[in-house]
Amino acid sequence: MKMKLVAILLAGLLAGGLAVGLAQNKKSRATKEFMRDKLELAQGILEGLSVENYALIISRSQKLSAMSQQADWKVFENPDYEQQSIAFRRNVDALTKAAKNKNLDGATLAYVRVTMSCVECHKYVRGRLVASLN
Ligand code: HEC
Repeated sequence: MKMKLVAILLAGLLAGGLAVGLAQNKKSRATKEFMRDKLELAQGILEGLSVENYALIISRSQKLSAMSQQADWKVFENPDYEQQSIAFRRNVDALTKAAKNKNLDGATLAYVRVTMSCVECHKYVRGRLVASLN
């Protein structure tokens, strides 16, 4: 009788654990896809700059700016991450503006700044992830 109860309890725990695991996995996969979309958009901007397609640049940079305000973006809720996000948005908005003015050099420079924001934030994120493992 006691054994049966233990077995039922164990089965319950296992199922619960599995459900939580699956949910986390699903969430992180969605976040992963969301994050990867940034890369595709940035590549589109490079394409736009390369062939002087302002409409392409603008559509991609506006999408990136909007993404930075979405819930999926906010993996961390702290002032540093918020600062990184604000700097990124400022650079990506400057890129949109330069493209609207058909300023190719200005847009290219802004693109470099945007790329630096990507790298800066990732450096910060990696530091946080490593810290959270300790
Ligand atoms: C404000 C912070 C921030 C900025 C700016 C940022 N990212 Fe990210 N990025 C993240 C976070 C957070 C992750 C998820 C890290 C993790 O949990 O592994 C991520 C992950 C990624 C990944 C990996 C996705 C995967 O396969 O797991 C790519 C690719 C990526 N970002 C591209 C970019 C590009 C391109 C830019 C610039 C156009 C950019 N990111 C700007 C925060 C940022």
